[in-house]
Amino acid sequence: MEFYEVINNRHIVRDWKDKCVSPEILERVISAGLKAPTHDHARNWEFIVLQNEQDKAIALQFVKAWSATQEEINAIFVMKTTVQKMYAYAMPRQYTMLQNAPYVIIPLFKGSTGIFHASSVNGLNSFASIWCVVENIFLAATAEGLACSMRIPVGEEGKKVTAALGVPIEYMMPCYIGIGYPVEDAAVPEQIDYTAEQKMHFGKW
Ligand SMILES: Cc1cc2nc3c(=O)[nH]c(=O)nc-3n(C[C@H](O)[C@H](O)[C@H](O)COP(=O)(O)O)c2cc1C
Repeated sequence: MEFYEVINNRHIVRDWKDKCVSPEILERVISAGLKAPTHDHARNWEFIVLQNEQDKAIALQFVKAWSATQEEINAIFVMKTTVQKMYAYAMPRQYTMLQNAPYVIIPLFKGSTGIFHASSVNGLNSFASIWCVVENIFLAATAEGLACSMRIPVGEEGKKVTAALGVPIEYMMPCYIGIGYPVEDAAVPEQIDYTAEQKMHFGKW
């Protein structure tokens, strides 16, 4: 796939085909993650790979699944704004978009403590680096004809997950990533589209 095609085709997907992802493809996608820029030259990143139902269920036990019907959810998010429409679609799928994905990846970065007391943007370097890794994974998955779902753990959720998975205390998870083949008619929630021209400020703001 041509580079800008990958960029334009990448979307967060939450519904999957019942189709396995080969371990070779998964390795290529994780390898792309490892090519991301890094602040400390050590690439202090690890990846927990979850494939079977039980392992995924252990990692996902702290994800609050919504039991409301789509009608009830639509009534909460009155479906007026782009953001509300996205929430109405995404929130009921927070558990299934991971549990039903052929693979769930938990990326981990070292240096979790410093980011809570960052006095400048520099203190966020380990956090910034892992997000470069995550984006490389998204793009590589897209190039392979796959897609990713992604959830940010809320409150203490991340700490509970890493403890349940035996992760050393100095590592932190930025997100969960589901990887799989998207269903043919995978929903692409409406986005607010901007042109580069609208966002560029030449010389000064
Ligand atoms: C920092 C960040 C946090 C996000 N958190 C979640 C999340 O917790 N659950 C979810 O379903 N999607 C989450 N998303 C995905 C966004 O909903 C999605 O990227 C956005 O709607 C744009 O759609 P696109 O990625 O398909 O272009 C997150 C994305 C980012 C960048």
